[in-house]
Amino acid sequence: MLKFPKNFLWGAATASYQIEGGFNEDGRGESIWDRFCQMPGHVFAGHDGKVACDHFHRYEEDIKIMSELGLKSYRFSIAWSRLFPKEGHYNEKGLAFYRRLVTLLHSYDIEPVATIYHWDLPQWIQDRGGWANRETVDHFVEYAETLFRELGQDVNKWITHNEPWCAAFLGHGLGIHAPGHRDWHEALRVGHHLLLSHGRVVQAYRNYSQEGQIGITLNLAPTYPGTDKPEDVAAAHRSDGFINRIFLDPVFKGIYPQDMIDLFTKRFGTIDFIQDHDLQVISQPIDFLGINYYQPNVVIHSEDDQLFNVEQVPDEGKKTAMDWSIHPEALYDLLKRIQKDYSNIPLYVTENGAAFDDQVVNGEIHDEDRIEFLDGHFRAAHQFIQEGGNLQGYFVWSFLDNFEWAFGYSKRFGIVYVDYESQERLLKDSAKWYKEVIHQNAVLS
Ligand code: NOJ
Repeated sequence: MLKFPKNFLWGAATASYQIEGGFNEDGRGESIWDRFCQMPGHVFAGHDGKVACDHFHRYEEDIKIMSELGLKSYRFSIAWSRLFPKEGHYNEKGLAFYRRLVTLLHSYDIEPVATIYHWDLPQWIQDRGGWANRETVDHFVEYAETLFRELGQDVNKWITHNEPWCAAFLGHGLGIHAPGHRDWHEALRVGHHLLLSHGRVVQAYRNYSQEGQIGITLNLAPTYPGTDKPEDVAAAHRSDGFINRIFLDPVFKGIYPQDMIDLFTKRFGTIDFIQDHDLQVISQPIDFLGINYYQPNVVIHSEDDQLFNVEQVPDEGKKTAMDWSIHPEALYDLLKRIQKDYSNIPLYVTENGAAFDDQVVNGEIHDEDRIEFLDGHFRAAHQFIQEGGNLQGYFVWSFLDNFEWAFGYSKRFGIVYVDYESQERLLKDSAKWYKEVIHQNAVLS
């Protein structure tokens, strides 16, 4: 048996737009994802989050399931547009949903971990330029302060942003996420404002609580060169810069990587949005780092790619339904690297999991692939802890099958199956297996 430390925080994660539904309940306003889903061609089969898993109405049943599984913690996000549906208008009813949620979690002894921003910007803010507009940072601070004031007694772990890389670059560079822009200069500006808003909210939080903790969640992908040729090693360094260092360096070191600044300036023009002291604000000490890990990144040099001269090396091994490669050992490398290059603060895996094409057979879902996936990654985490690594918890993505952004409901990441017709929940075998892991506080060898 590979035992985990006492008080290891086993959990599962979700996000508001992906599970809540209740899109017009209790005064919720429109978000950029509501708008994006309406524009034809953006989301698989025209799916949207209007109903999703109907968690807004079924949260009691869902929390009961969490409790049945023995989850120690639940990571969810808050929909900004429930609280601030219109400019200058605070909607208390929107906040009340999260108060009910958090109260119920406590009654089952499940620790709430709240993500403040998981991509669903209120549309009225987008209409004023969204994250490309520096003023959005002030709106974000006002929203976060409202949360601290109203829920700060009951929520002790806060995550400012989830995967700002995706919000900035998928949303504004590649255009495959809301708001669907394709402008790399804008994407970089957005990334900077997201980071700045993170730092400002960390500063604000210190006025509310001396005990609670606040951090950020980054999507990180350990990056390896496909060969040891110098040009491929250089390509891997560039790719690491664009995926990992570009957010890690400002948060932990208060600098942007110079190679990225040079490269971006050459490709996209002058970087004119970084003001004096911004990096000081961005690098406020945080209490933990959240890591979302799914797959490694293996690259070689390529003349074809206009952006970074980098090409992905296809993986020959087994893949998930997202066509993502499966490499638990890369999670170990990633955790080690954070510890070595950045910080020894507490780490949480705030997301890790896999989509597979689950089949319901007589009311059961035998998702062995998912169990194998999680088992391998838990072992990698265990090895890191064993060697003295400061990993304090692990959140499986996801608690429920849900709206997988541009893929709609076509990809199932849950350990709990959702029948979207009946909204019935079914425990997959992985959920039953996870329950045992939590109960034993160990993976079985
Ligand atoms: C990261 C995101 O935070 C989450 O919203 C998404 O569903 C998972 N990755 C899987 O793609």
